[in-house]
Amino acid sequence: MTVVTEGEPNSGAAAHRRSRAADSEPWDDPWMLSYKGFDPTQEGLREVLCAVGNGYLVTRAAAPESVADGTHYPGTYLAGCYDRTTSTVQGRAVENEDLVNMPNWLPLSFRIGAMGGWFGAADAALPGDRPFEILDQRLELDLRRGVLTRRALVVDGAGRRTRLVQRRIAHMAQPHLVALQTLLVPENWSGRLDIRSGIDGTVRNTGVARYRELTSHHLDPVDHGAEGELSWLQVATAGSPLTVAMAARTGVHLDGKPVPVARCDELSDALVAQILTVDAAAGRPLVVEKTVAVYTSRDPAVDGPLRAARRLAGRADSFEVLLRAHALRWEELWRRCRTEVDAARTGPVHLYLFHLLQTVSEHSADLDVGVPARGLHGEGYRGHVFWDELFVLQVLNLRLPELSRSVLRYRHRRLDEARSAARGAGFRGAMYPWQSAADGSEETQRVHLNPVSGRWLPDHSHLQRHVGSAIAYNVWQYYQATGDLEFLESAGAEMLLEIARFWADIAVFDADLGRFRIRGVVGPDEYHEAYPWAAGPGLDDNAYTNVLASWVLARALEALRILPGYRSDELAERMGLGGEELDRWRTVSRALHVPFHEGVITQFDGYERLAELDWDGYRRRYPDIRRLDRILEAEGDSVNRYKVSKQADVLMLYYLFSPREVHDLLHRLGYRAGDELFRATADYYLSRTAHGSTLSAVVHAWVLARSDRRASWRFFRDALDGDVHDIQGGTTAEGIHLGAMAGTIDLLQRCYTGLELREDVLWLAPRLPGPLRRLELELRYRGSWGVCVTVDRKDVTVRVADGRADPLTIGFRGSLVRVGPGEIRTLTL
Ligand code: BGC
Repeated sequence: MTVVTEGEPNSGAAAHRRSRAADSEPWDDPWMLSYKGFDPTQEGLREVLCAVGNGYLVTRAAAPESVADGTHYPGTYLAGCYDRTTSTVQGRAVENEDLVNMPNWLPLSFRIGAMGGWFGAADAALPGDRPFEILDQRLELDLRRGVLTRRALVVDGAGRRTRLVQRRIAHMAQPHLVALQTLLVPENWSGRLDIRSGIDGTVRNTGVARYRELTSHHLDPVDHGAEGELSWLQVATAGSPLTVAMAARTGVHLDGKPVPVARCDELSDALVAQILTVDAAAGRPLVVEKTVAVYTSRDPAVDGPLRAARRLAGRADSFEVLLRAHALRWEELWRRCRTEVDAARTGPVHLYLFHLLQTVSEHSADLDVGVPARGLHGEGYRGHVFWDELFVLQVLNLRLPELSRSVLRYRHRRLDEARSAARGAGFRGAMYPWQSAADGSEETQRVHLNPVSGRWLPDHSHLQRHVGSAIAYNVWQYYQATGDLEFLESAGAEMLLEIARFWADIAVFDADLGRFRIRGVVGPDEYHEAYPWAAGPGLDDNAYTNVLASWVLARALEALRILPGYRSDELAERMGLGGEELDRWRTVSRALHVPFHEGVITQFDGYERLAELDWDGYRRRYPDIRRLDRILEAEGDSVNRYKVSKQADVLMLYYLFSPREVHDLLHRLGYRAGDELFRATADYYLSRTAHGSTLSAVVHAWVLARSDRRASWRFFRDALDGDVHDIQGGTTAEGIHLGAMAGTIDLLQRCYTGLELREDVLWLAPRLPGPLRRLELELRYRGSWGVCVTVDRKDVTVRVADGRADPLTIGFRGSLVRVGPGEIRTLTL
């Protein structure tokens, strides 16, 4: 619970420091996340933090014998696998596209003797029996190798003790394979042991309480069967034409050799299981291996998902062999993403990188999928894609740029949909959706539930048109990091130009102001969707939107200059882009309106007329005021009336650009701006922000990094705590906050190193906050591998591994230095 006392600065950091129990850190070793015992209140959180995945799929860390019961929530999600269904909410039909909770491949249980109860079953088999008890449980997620291990001592009603060690992987080299190995050691008993291994297609999407009124049924059975060691299940999504097949191979080993088992198949339409019967002897470890192959109708290079799943499950290697190749792939990934941090309590850094690499990987790269805001770890935001890749791609650009490219391609494939959305709204160019899933159409819900008041309310967050600029920014940053002109030519520039065209078209000239205005939008601060005095939704001249639109227009014009002449001519021809339109782009990009008041940039036109909130009063009355929108609505009030932001909005400008760049942009727009504007604007909004999004801490840590390093570090710590300590109070169980996780890494990667990519130069200007003693990062820049940047209090060192690439140009304190392959340069701070 978070409590802020009077007089404290309004920083989530301050509030959280007090609530963080120092001894609750799940780390002894930064490469191992471990939890002792079982805490039903923490189970959802642990399932998400200990999830294993490989970009193709992610499986939550639910116990294999568990079912969704309010405490456990087994969930497996496949990248890009959504289902579109219609629900009835308050008598209205509401269409939704959901990331589907796929059949649970984990089920594995056992019983002692033919009449015993099954381990994990809520009810005892026979009257008078007591169900199993789990003693001494420990969960360990080995981040280096991507292995989740569960150790437990299980005791049945008759006092028979069985040691259990379960290891699971989502294979990082063979993305269609997941495997669960279970070691069972009877401690004080011998006799018949039945093992049940299944695939459960009866699961539903019930992971998020707020969505309970929406359809939860997404899977219909299609086919099932069993033969020898294999059993399989094929399902189809209820509303979308997607088929998914899983095939499991289960076997038992003793002393490294297969044990003959009697098998009995239990088959029903949506649930298949095999019961394997063996003789167990006290002290003799039995190893049960369950290897599951997963395919969908979206997969390339297969002749139907079921055939593919059965073939792969049948021929997959043993667990130990699979593990070796899997661990090797993780070793490679960690080499490429090396991030060494010398500072106390930065344990989650590797965990966050781990989840980033499990969500976006070479295996998602070929799948035509976007970056879901909550990972593939749960059903929060229904698995939708927002603007959060803005926080994700910057990390990948300098580590695994091919993954950034694939995400940008996902956007490019949906360019036509964005064009059609713009056309539908009466504009030219491309209007990307605020939330999207499979085909890039707008998936933002039009009503949402306020869990505090229990009311369904209109939702206008789709008016966040700034998402298009985030895509344009990502295109540009990717190009800066890689110099990949081929991508710019083939896809990047086209998106940039179409997004620019949209901004130039939506901007309207206001003769009184003598400037262009963008009206009826919503900025990143989702608390404000409408003027309290207006009948309809939307705000005018959101400063972030307008300044960024001006930047996009300028970059689009620059891209036309960078591209080889034949290609810019082709694009101009295709788009019907003539001199007159380009003149308008130039004009609009220099004359968009940016409001100011009291010496600060105004979040949107009219913001200054809103009321001040009684922050102290709300802090006194509510233990957690991050979701002031919900609190105020439940009180019959509206957050639209107040100068209160959910998250950084104007300050996003200082996140994407250095203060100098922001001021240059403002100068270009004809405004005077300098350091005083930055300081005043940062102070003003910081004291009026509720940090209702995990992205907020990331942005504030960044913005303050140069002006108040202590405050920056506090926000960094907050961002770092975000998911590990679930500081949004229960939301992590619904999925990771991928943008915040990646953003936290990026604070180390680009912010504290002062790394900027401009004018074909990699600029470094490190300023480490006090507690951060040293940073060492392995980067990839413009085709060069093994660019190692080390920063400490005294100097910054750049080392480039041997190779064939051209020397890098490093900018430092206004000068340029060249570092060639095999060279090291140390620059004194
Ligand atoms: C934030 C958005 C973000 C979304 C998904 C919301 O709470 O306000 O900025 O894109 O979560 O992460």
